[in-house]
Amino acid sequence: MLRAGRDSDAAGFIALISTCWAEYPGCVFDLDGEVPELRALASYFAAQEGALWVAEEAGAVVGMVAVHPLPGTPDWEICRMYVAADQRGTGVAAALLGTAEAHARQAGAEVIRLWSDTRFTRAHRFYAKLGYVRQGPIRVLNDLSNSLEFPFFKPARGVAVHQLDASAAEHVEKPLADILVACVGAGASVSFLPPLNAETARGFWRASLADIALDRKAIWVAWADGALVGTVTLDLATPPNQPHRAEVAKLLVHPAARRRGVGQALMAALEAEALRRGRRLLTLDTRAGDAGEALYRALGWQEAGRIPGFALNADGTPCATVFFYKQIGDA
Ligand SMILES: CC(C)(COP(=O)(O)OP(=O)(O)OC[C@H]1O[C@@H](n2cnc3c(N)ncnc32)[C@H](O)[C@@H]1OP(=O)(O)O)[C@@H](O)C(=O)NCCC(=O)NCCS
Repeated sequence: MLRAGRDSDAAGFIALISTCWAEYPGCVFDLDGEVPELRALASYFAAQEGALWVAEEAGAVVGMVAVHPLPGTPDWEICRMYVAADQRGTGVAAALLGTAEAHARQAGAEVIRLWSDTRFTRAHRFYAKLGYVRQGPIRVLNDLSNSLEFPFFKPARGVAVHQLDASAAEHVEKPLADILVACVGAGASVSFLPPLNAETARGFWRASLADIALDRKAIWVAWADGALVGTVTLDLATPPNQPHRAEVAKLLVHPAARRRGVGQALMAALEAEALRRGRRLLTLDTRAGDAGEALYRALGWQEAGRIPGFALNADGTPCATVFFYKQIGDA
């Protein structure tokens, strides 16, 4: 059961957090020295116009989360996200986080942020699954635990697009693989044939990380209402005589999030970055008759031609591929 947290839950909070920290080597829990606010945590967050929830099981605090606005910004921060070891994998954590996010969204949050200790790797996978991306420099707390923390964020609402660096792309490898698997499963013609297994899909994204790190590829992700639902890649590794060109690849929108403008938003971000880099001629190809063909035409791409039997459908029959180009900027 989830309910608002109270100051009187102090003993439960102290037990939960100290137990969670004890799972990690070097994490030191010093109540009076470093976290005295746990003695009256509801008041602490109320003073910041934030809120606090607990998950309760047989009268014991088994999970908690808080959220508060970040002063001077339209952003909110999630904090104190802890779930007892025996409650992990049950959905309690996602329910807590969803409750805090809904509160922030309702209060007008544009971006939801959080910090997580670099040692809490299980939590990082959980945040990726829930649509958070790890991006930005580590912060140093200079506390007894020698805490180093990664920043995570996600847009709170609507359709939003963000370019990822290689570290961020590595963090969301699994959600990207899930989108690829879902698209191939729904019949997309994007190099793979169904059924595409999760490991192969992860391997595909893993293989592209080096190119992203070396600036040979740029990658974007898209969210719809806080969930990661789409991606696109710009291949920048053109030959020396084509420094003005780049190739669009792997535009993917999860089948459940189509026709909401996600594909269009991804292409707009990609084109803006291509222009910034002087890549004024963009090229791509797509299976004839697919949603992609309609999307590219709607976005002003020119057909260069089509090659019959260029690729195979899932059933092994040949299909035609349409080649498109788009000149951007004043070119
Ligand atoms: C192609 C794809 C990325 C489009 O994503 P999307 O988020 O649904 O696209 P958008 O909502 O931004 O569509 C923008 C416009 O494109 C056109 N469009 C997109 N999908 C269309 C479809 N199925 N039929 C007709 N027009 C379509 C429309 O003009 C649409 O505007 P509208 O909805 O206002 O009419 C998505 O269908 C997909 O992931 N397909 C599988 C992967 C794939 O084939 N990728 C292309 C590889 S080259």
